[in-house]
Amino acid sequence: MKALLSDSQYISYLYNFPKKGYLFTVTFKTVGMETILDNYQNPTGASSSIAEIEAIANICIDNDLWVLSDEAYYEIRYSHKPPISIASFPGMKERTVILYTFSKRFAMTGWRVGASIGPKKIVKHIAKLNINDESCTNHFIQCALASVMDKVDEDAKSILNKLKGRRDICVKLLNSIRGLSLLTPDSTFYLYLNVGELMENKNIKDLEKFRINALKNTGVAFCTRSHFGSLNTRQDENYIRLAYSGINSEAIKDGLISFKNWIEN
Ligand SMILES: Cc1ncc(COP(=O)(O)O)c(C=O)c1O
Repeated sequence: MKALLSDSQYISYLYNFPKKGYLFTVTFKTVGMETILDNYQNPTGASSSIAEIEAIANICIDNDLWVLSDEAYYEIRYSHKPPISIASFPGMKERTVILYTFSKRFAMTGWRVGASIGPKKIVKHIAKLNINDESCTNHFIQCALASVMDKVDEDAKSILNKLKGRRDICVKLLNSIRGLSLLTPDSTFYLYLNVGELMENKNIKDLEKFRINALKNTGVAFCTRSHFGSLNTRQDENYIRLAYSGINSEAIKDGLISFKNWIEN
């Protein structure tokens, strides 16, 4: 693993989903002496297993790497499996900085309040940067957050239930479209799907053109693979990401039925 790290900035893991025959490449990137880890994952909605996180933890220990663990979606999980943080593995707490945002759990995206949790020697510098860059988190946002902190479970559970309902509507409707087949992700509020076959059906070669035509004809807006950085080896470009966070179930149904009609006609 050490050789791999010094030869390349990326380590790739191949996951085979035998049921559907998909092959996914999951990468984590090392920047200097840091590893940036994003589990529960945007844009794919994937969650890593204990064995996978443990393998990454071992690589970090062997190569003396710090980890920036982006845990924005730590609570946005729909199965009953307990959450995993890389910081909880032996030898990791002292080399991990958890980056957290209140955006997701409390549906307060854009309010810009979060936390970095890690060894004091690093976090004190992050605090200094934050104070000088943002001049502190503003007052009304701190008050809003304080007012919901004591009923965390109640509010967050109701948000999660709504999201789960929307996820299920999306997956069912999308899977009813000819040429689409997707698994139900266990976390985040994103769906990441390969639209290669749909593009062929519509005789559209370019993903950006597909995105714009879909928006104009159906009102459905989505990101494409190019919004998430450069392609990794053996990665297919024709992926789109749908988000079901800021939209109600009725609007989801309207949008996706319109998308289905556009694709199939
Ligand atoms: C993986 C991940 N980390 C961090 C963030 C940042 O969230 P915010 O800027 O709302 O605090 C996002 C937002 O989409 C995200 O998807």
